[in-house]
Order: sequence, then structure tokens, then C-alpha cells
Amino acid sequence: MQDVTDIAFMRTLSRIGCLPDFFMTPYLRSTRTTCALAETPLRCIMENETGVPIWAQLAGSEAEHLQRDARRLLCLPIAGVNLNTGCPASLVNRHGAGAALLRDLTKLRHICRALRDSLPMGKWSVKCRLGWEDSSEFSDVVDAIMPSSPDMLIVHARTRGQRYRGVPDVQQLRREVGRVSCPILGNGDIKNVQQAWLWLRDVTPDGIMIGRGAVRNPYLLRQLKGEAPTTAQELRRYYLILLEETGKTLKRATSVAHCNRMKKFLAFCYADFPPNAEYELRRCTNIIEMEQLLLQGGTTRLSAFSDSSAFEHCSGSVS
Ligand SMILES: Cc1cc2nc3c(=O)[nH]c(=O)nc-3n(C[C@H](O)[C@H](O)[C@H](O)COP(=O)(O)O)c2cc1C
Repeated sequence: MQDVTDIAFMRTLSRIGCLPDFFMTPYLRSTRTTCALAETPLRCIMENETGVPIWAQLAGSEAEHLQRDARRLLCLPIAGVNLNTGCPASLVNRHGAGAALLRDLTKLRHICRALRDSLPMGKWSVKCRLGWEDSSEFSDVVDAIMPSSPDMLIVHARTRGQRYRGVPDVQQLRREVGRVSCPILGNGDIKNVQQAWLWLRDVTPDGIMIGRGAVRNPYLLRQLKGEAPTTAQELRRYYLILLEETGKTLKRATSVAHCNRMKKFLAFCYADFPPNAEYELRRCTNIIEMEQLLLQGGTTRLSAFSDSSAFEHCSGSVS
């Protein structure tokens, strides 16, 4: 996740002992003038000491530039190269990259083939959405991607039109799972163990990818391996380690910059703070004060995560 799941977050996960099976970098831009290897998220690759493999994700709109950067990335310690066809940001889409590729499936097919030709077996994957405007487009999206024989397909079960809101259309994804001849990972609003199991049982992907849910509660990664549920104390420890790790990676380590960096993560964690603490955190510009406020966190966690309403919807929409 751009500006969120950076090297500080990866180090934090390592320190609290909650690591995924693999990481994916935030997208690295690949254009005529921008080489992916000059992008800030490259630190996730170059400084990855977690022992967990990491995929490098590219966002671009021209096969030539994407191929150029994919080949260069292969010289680095990566699991493989992933193409981003899911980013809904207008700025990215205006340049024909991210989810904009879902509007031009001929081009998407061409880019996928070109990247397959540049990458060895096992090192080529795609992340997509169900479509640009309507999830019924997904069948055509699959038709455009699969001829390139990707080694993995990750699907955020929303359209570009939905951005990050609305209910993921898991039913649409479920219909196509059987047609995908490579491992397929489901993604979208997985926030707790129950939701994860329902995804696996009802949508039947080979695995799941978790974004915001893991930023809010990284111990979810441990729980998915059958280990203990999160405690409020553990969440507070997570916030404090994240505070320490983000401080180490800042270029200009002013108190304000550090608070602003932390707010990128906290945006997904406020639900676990009392309202007064959230109010204060959002306005906080002093890192010592922020540290104190973080100790109030974790409070609403247990009740929030025993609420089953969100995943009931997910389960109910799968045939
Ligand atoms: C702030 C933010 C940044 C994101 N950056 C990326 C990105 O760089 N590459 C990507 O493939 N997806 C990115 N995503 C999308 C997430 O990876 C994920 O597909 C989406 O949030 C739905 O999954 P979730 O509900 O588990 O977060 C981003 C999402 C957010 C909210």
C-alpha cells in the first residue's frame, strides 16, 4: 500500500513476530522518464531483512517501459514482478496505468504477454480488480490476462468505480475462480479470521491478500496460522514499535513529519481508539504527545472484532 506498507512497517511486523508468506511493494512507477528502480518503495526490497520474499509491483502503461524495468528488477532480491492493474487513483489512471488498463483490454493483453516474455517462470504475476465500472467485466479481464500464463493472480473484488468502498463482489470472483489456471489470491475487506475463513471456504481462492486489515491488526497474520488472538496490550506494543521504526526511516525527522508519517497508518487504526484519543491523534503534531496517546489504543479492539456483521454479508453473497 502506497505510503503505508513501507520498510518501517515490514520491520515492525518482523519485530512483533507477525509475518506474511510474502510481501508486495507499493507500486513502483514505470514510465518513459521514471525508472521503477529510482522509486522510494525500492527500499522495501533493498533493506528487506525479514526473510520473507517480496514481489516488486510495477505501475505503468507501456510495455516497453515495463519490460525495461522488469528486467532490471530481476537483478535485485525479489520473488518476482507484479503488474498493478488495480490502482483507482485519477492521477495514475490519467496516464493509462493502474486500473485504467482494465478499460483497454487489448493493451492489457499485450502488456501481459510482453512481461511474460521478459520474466522467467515463477516470477510473473498480476493484481487486478473485477473491472473498470461493472464487475461483470471480470470474465473479459481474465481472458485478457490468462494467455500470458501468470504465475499468480491477485484480485481485489471491487471495480475501479467502487474505489475502496462498497461491498466486494465475491460472487463474481467465485464464478471465475475455476477458469484461472494459476494460483489466485482474493483480496478486499478481510479484517478478521472469520472473514478470512469465509473467503477461503466460499470463494475458494488459493490464498488471500490483506491490506488495511493487517495495518489495523497485524496480529491477524499470526491468528491465521492458528495462534492466539490479539490483546489490547499487544496492539499498543505494535503502535509503539511502529512509532520507533517510522522514526528511523524519516529523511527529516522533525516531530511534525514523524506525526504525519504515523497518521498514514493510524488512518486504519482509529476504530480501536476511544473517540477523544482519535480526536487528539488526528491533530497531534508532537511525537512525545503522540506516544502517550497511542497508549490509549487497543480499547475497542475486542468488541469490534467479535462483530460478525461484516463477514455475514460476505458469506451471504456467495452462491
Ligand atoms: C492507501 C492505500 C494504498 C494502496 N496502495 C496500493 C499499491 O501500491 N498497490 C496495490 O496493488 N494496491 C494498493 N492498495 C490496494 C490494497 O492493496 C488492497 O487491494 C485494497 O485496499 C483492498 O484490500 P484491503 O481491504 O485488504 O485493504 C492501496 C490501498 C490503500 C488504501
